[in-house]
Amino acid sequence: VHFTAEEKAAITSIWEKVDVEKAGGETLGRLLIVYPWTQRFFDKFGNLSSAQAIMGNPRIRAHGKKVLTSLGLAVKNIDNLKEVFAHLSELHCDKLHVDPENFKLLGNTLVIVLSSYFGKEFTAEVQAAWQKLVAGVANALAHKYH
Ligand code: HEM
Repeated sequence: VHFTAEEKAAITSIWEKVDVEKAGGETLGRLLIVYPWTQRFFDKFGNLSSAQAIMGNPRIRAHGKKVLTSLGLAVKNIDNLKEVFAHLSELHCDKLHVDPENFKLLGNTLVIVLSSYFGKEFTAEVQAAWQKLVAGVANALAHKYH
């Protein structure tokens, strides 16, 4: 995937204002609530018994921060997504056994969270650039699957 200068600018303009802990916690929390089968990967994370429990779970929040921090590497290395995520792709495939379809769900959930935070600033063009980024990340994370 190739990102134009305009797309890169649209992504960065949002990313520089994102609180990775808040947005990361909310994105991962929403993933587990909206797509409940994803909870099975996090069964060691304590209380996931309700939407409220998930959203208030400090381990979910901490892990969401980890995931979004890693996505920040994608923003910085947007022309080399496959290289950046090669190791994480192997980890999610060989060790974690996460179906790569879930990467797309997480990316789309992030877009919804960003849209709720940024409102009118999250224009169609900004959304298009972000959808392209999360699709590129999902693709890169799936790249080493075998
Ligand atoms: C671990 C990134 C999507 C499940 C991790 C780690 C990172 C990461 C950085 C920590 C690796 C380490 O400790 O060395 C990402 C990114 C994603 C993504 C960038 C997509 C944009 C997902 C999805 C799932 C998932 C969709 C499952 C539905 C896990 C699990 C762990 C993990 C179970 C291990 C957690 C633990 O026991 O500490 N991921 N991840 N990831 N990821 Fe992902």
